[in-house]
Amino acid sequence: MNSTRESWASKLGFMLAAMGSAVGLGNIWRFSYVAGENGGGAFLILYLASILIVGIPLLLAEVSIGRKAKSDVVGSYRTLAPKKPWYLAGFLGVFGALLILGFYSVVAGWSMYYFWNYLSGYFFTVPEQGYGGAFETFTSSTAQPLMWHGIFMVLTIAIVLTGVKKGIELANKIFMPALAVLLIILAIFSLSLDGAMEGLRFLFQPDWSVLSNPSVYIAALGQAFFSLSLGVGVMMTYGSYLGDHHKLPGATVGIGLMDTFFAVISGIVIFPAVFAFGIEPDSGPVLVFITLPDIFSQIPFGGMVGILFFLSLTLAAVSSSVSLLEVPVAYLMRSVKWSRRQASIITGIIIFLLGIGASLGMGAWSGFTPIGQLNIMDSMDYIASNIFLPIGGLVMALFVGWYFSRREALTAADLQHQVVGSWWYVIVKYLAPVIILLIFLNALGIL
Ligand code: PHE
Ligand code: NA
Repeated sequence: MNSTRESWASKLGFMLAAMGSAVGLGNIWRFSYVAGENGGGAFLILYLASILIVGIPLLLAEVSIGRKAKSDVVGSYRTLAPKKPWYLAGFLGVFGALLILGFYSVVAGWSMYYFWNYLSGYFFTVPEQGYGGAFETFTSSTAQPLMWHGIFMVLTIAIVLTGVKKGIELANKIFMPALAVLLIILAIFSLSLDGAMEGLRFLFQPDWSVLSNPSVYIAALGQAFFSLSLGVGVMMTYGSYLGDHHKLPGATVGIGLMDTFFAVISGIVIFPAVFAFGIEPDSGPVLVFITLPDIFSQIPFGGMVGILFFLSLTLAAVSSSVSLLEVPVAYLMRSVKWSRRQASIITGIIIFLLGIGASLGMGAWSGFTPIGQLNIMDSMDYIASNIFLPIGGLVMALFVGWYFSRREALTAADLQHQVVGSWWYVIVKYLAPVIILLIFLNALGIL
């Protein structure tokens, strides 16, 4: 094994990086619009069930594989299962990470643009066309969103260049707590709005009739995977930088709960406001970019809150994007022996190019809908989140459940002496794969 391989300074370093990866635009931007599009309460229950029954156990499986193999997502399978085809799933991960970061960076660019508009004072008052109109004008234009996407990618590359340990820890230590505090304050304000009850009912009172729609299940599963950074090899790669003496089960449960807290609290911020300001809950990806400014325009020091909020959101996005870029970078550093510098820059440029499609799909190329009615960004997101991630997770579950012996699996996960070990093993070996397969077959209309 390569003795110069990087590693975390401490278990806290790993926890911060993994939480930083999990908490991001997925909790605020993606969670709220996907929940809004899928009917609210019933979706929330499926989402929480996906996190608890499938997500957290598989998170443990993914980190365990990485820590045991001490390699990237392709190399881990190769090391543990030489000459077997498991590593092909690793390429799915590398490819998925590129695809996700391609559009993730564009949305992070929007967040930076909002930060900038608060910093300059322009968003302190409602723009003439309203915040929705301003968002529309901005995202459908060509140069500006691409510029912010570019700036965000440069930032991500710069951090990944400096190595896994340094770049991200500080940002995570300060700005994740800041984001949490801001969200709690905003939630309290949102609850005082006139439409609050309606919003809470939407989020928490299940309308069971939506469960007859197969697409709701896959949306909930995809959101759980996306939000936990599960199934692309991010957690496998991060786990590979972790020493054997650190215990995994508590860490993964902590990451899962933390991530879920951020999602639910942002739902409590967004949905009361959605109803109070008369916005359609199924407005799609624009949802937070209209509701949040509307909230900020109504609270004391709202402009300052806007500055802080979009700064924290951008930094939360950075720690997620860094983790995504690390997947192909770690792979290339090992397989073709590129330097960290070379791998980060070249992969970063490829991702920037992918993101151009996602960005222009909001305007100049909006006529191009690769999947059904979905524009380029939504198509990239759909393929990555609802197909690649669950397949990636399925393979990880099968690998730990069926390729490892029971003893190997439990040892890799630090569960050999734990009563929950046998529960976890049954979930990883049987339950999670069956659930993922059923949801797939259901979505394909076979069930
Ligand atoms: N989990 C991140 C978020 O919620 C996004 C992400 C997905 C990061 C997949 C890494 C891998 O924003
Ligand atoms: Na998340």
